[in-house]
Amino acid sequence: MAQADGSIRTLTVDIGGSGVKAMVLDEAGNALTERSRVETPQPPKPTAVIDAIASLAAGQGEFHRVSVGFPGVVRGGVTETAVNLDPDWVGFDLATALSQRLDKPTRVINDADMQGLGAISGKGVELVITLGTGFGSALFLDGKLVPNLEMGHHQFRKEETYEQQLGRAALEKGGQKKWNSRLEKAITSLEHLFNYDYLYIGGGETKKITIELPPNVKIVPNISGLLGGIALWRN
Ligand code: BGC
Repeated sequence: MAQADGSIRTLTVDIGGSGVKAMVLDEAGNALTERSRVETPQPPKPTAVIDAIASLAAGQGEFHRVSVGFPGVVRGGVTETAVNLDPDWVGFDLATALSQRLDKPTRVINDADMQGLGAISGKGVELVITLGTGFGSALFLDGKLVPNLEMGHHQFRKEETYEQQLGRAALEKGGQKKWNSRLEKAITSLEHLFNYDYLYIGGGETKKITIELPPNVKIVPNISGLLGGIALWRN
């Protein structure tokens, strides 16, 4: 059911390792409400996170459908991994559970995929990485997503993965200078691997970037993580 003016409102939700965020979008994907945020419940088990989403939803006014970005592999609405949340998410049907709880159709994809959908131009090879609690990645060709690219857990350097070298824990442990120099190396490595037309960098830790970026690398606002939610309803 739509608004009296016929418009469909989408509640878009970003589940992160440190915060859960939500806002409502119009059909063109523009924000209709202020973004709201709660701390990710601890332990971040499915029931607690669904309660957190329900409390955010209650403060967001009317909506007709729900889009969720989840920090792990998602297939057909079922979460298959959740390295930075809780093992209880493995094999959990989040789309069904949330649609029952909120009584609205719900679609779920990987958080970096959702961020990418809100950031890309739709032309050529576009790679997206996200720097937050974890290291997210998404790949697009002419706007078409290759789902669940899990580069974060792929080996990067010194026997460590991209996430081990560039996740929040590494930033906090090694400091901003070391993290920036690793990021520079990661960009070079990814450029050689993907030969992308554009690389977009999103996520909460982009504010810590101090290195000069090549012209085909762009920092995208963290809000794209939520704005990408509209794309889940395009055919
Ligand atoms: C997960 C990815 C996720 C990324 C950012 C990684 O640990 O495996 O699926 O996109 O963190 O949240």
